[in-house]
Amino acid sequence: MAEMQTQNHSLPASARALLPMLFLAAVLTGCGGGIGSTSGGGSGQPGTGDGLSAAAELGKKIFADTALSVSGTQSCGSCHVAAFAFTADRTAAGPDHGSTVPLGGPNMDLPGFRDTPSLMYLSFSPDFFFDSDGGPNGGFFRDGRAGTLADQAIDPFTTPFEMANADAAAVIAKLRTRPYLADFEALYGAGVLDDPDTALKRMGAALAAFEIESNDFHPFSSKYDFFQSGKATLSAQELRGLALFNDPSKGNCAGCHPSTTADGNTRPLFTDFSYDNLGVPRNAAIHANNPATAQSYTPINSDDGAHDYYDLGLCGPFRNNGGLNTSGLCGAFKVPTLRNIATTAPYFHNGRFATLKDAIGFYVRRDTKPEEFYPTAADGSVTKFDDLPAAYGGQFIVNINVPGSDALYVGNVNTLEIPYNRHIGETPALGTTEINDVIAFLCTLTDGYDPQNPTAQALPAQCQAAALSP
Ligand code: HEC
Ligand code: HEC
Repeated sequence: MAEMQTQNHSLPASARALLPMLFLAAVLTGCGGGIGSTSGGGSGQPGTGDGLSAAAELGKKIFADTALSVSGTQSCGSCHVAAFAFTADRTAAGPDHGSTVPLGGPNMDLPGFRDTPSLMYLSFSPDFFFDSDGGPNGGFFRDGRAGTLADQAIDPFTTPFEMANADAAAVIAKLRTRPYLADFEALYGAGVLDDPDTALKRMGAALAAFEIESNDFHPFSSKYDFFQSGKATLSAQELRGLALFNDPSKGNCAGCHPSTTADGNTRPLFTDFSYDNLGVPRNAAIHANNPATAQSYTPINSDDGAHDYYDLGLCGPFRNNGGLNTSGLCGAFKVPTLRNIATTAPYFHNGRFATLKDAIGFYVRRDTKPEEFYPTAADGSVTKFDDLPAAYGGQFIVNINVPGSDALYVGNVNTLEIPYNRHIGETPALGTTEINDVIAFLCTLTDGYDPQNPTAQALPAQCQAAALSP
């Protein structure tokens, strides 16, 4: 990671933009060295089937093994389900009974704090670094607190509200009972089990190898991929949506979720791996956000009178910044990929919006009609950015009956870039029809398209709805 930092400090922004592509090249050629190799964990030893290395084969088994949790019922794959682009199954029939945040712990009744992100295309992310302008980039978790994919993978085993082991030794005690123990010892040496911390790190490396090597995580099989290689055509509506997505004066989405790559050949990832503060409204459905349901382990980090707990992303409370002054970054979260976005509802770090229509509506009407999204009183006063403490520009009171009452905003939320640079009563950057067009385009990012049989792909209901709307 330190190596990453120095390398990137010396690079101009344009070269930094190339990093994800270098990654892709490294992964696709199976070349382990070079930039980003820290995310890797491939042993280089041949495995069996699927073309996976022995480390990745082992990682695949660990990923699916519920016996590594204290409850005996939860694995990585319980929360990151392949059929849902490796997010959680939030249907009422799923293990979390429709909860926005996953449940875990010894009795599977302890709620987490954030909506489960997709693991797809994640292995192309750079390890966490600050660029030459001080901008944070890359890393894992929504706050980038794990520098590498392998570091990330050791965390859930001992998180009390996830797989809930007391410590590394407890995880390794379970590992000793597993049918793939011999594979583990063959790969990393039997002696490594005597040092639980190191053994757990090797488990993380194996999991990372699986996420990096297995095509399940990056098939590049969306209609948009086939369109880019000239093997599929987009409908008129999808093309309109793509144009609105890219247009810097309309959606401006590509500004943070790039739809092309600098070399024009590599496949775009729809994230620039940067961080931003969008002022996403507070979600009362998250247990920690509601005094009636907050769990005893909710970190108390505010005395602003509005709330005693805020999820501040880059500046905590889950991320330890090692003394860095990051107050300007409080409330910023990682830009996620938009590949498979139609299948990964709900949206944003706190799952505040259930549909793409609502999520995009928020982008374009956050400032023109704030009363749609934030607590509003009878006199027309609206508490904008209600999920951010006042000290960082949150709890900002405007009045929808007083044009201009929102003009003097100073704080951490992005209010300068299109589409969120407007004021009360102004025309939103995208209208209803245009939002449907953007949704239709986003639906082309769903993997599993077959150019030989274009109608075979079953897209989520919100895609049909957008396509039917004028
Ligand atoms: C109880 C549900 C649950 C379990 C079990 C779980 N995860 Fe996650 N995972 C989450 C949530 C929620 C997040 C987001 C947490 C955050 O940002 O702080 C996450 C984040 C991640 C990320 C980072 C995603 C990103 O965008 O940077 C990776 C990678 C990941 N998990 C892999 C794993 C692996 C590997 C395992 C098994 C060792 C695992 N998860 C077990 C719920 C779970
Ligand atoms: C200035 C950067 C920026 C721009 C411009 C931008 N986004 Fe985002 N986007 C983000 C960030 C940051 C997040 C994650 C925020 C969070 O989790 O709180 C995000 C998240 C999302 C999500 C939810 C992803 C998920 O997995 O939950 C969707 C959908 C989305 N953006 C679509 C769009 C669309 C459509 C546009 C154009 C109208 C757009 N974005 C413009 C930065 C941006």
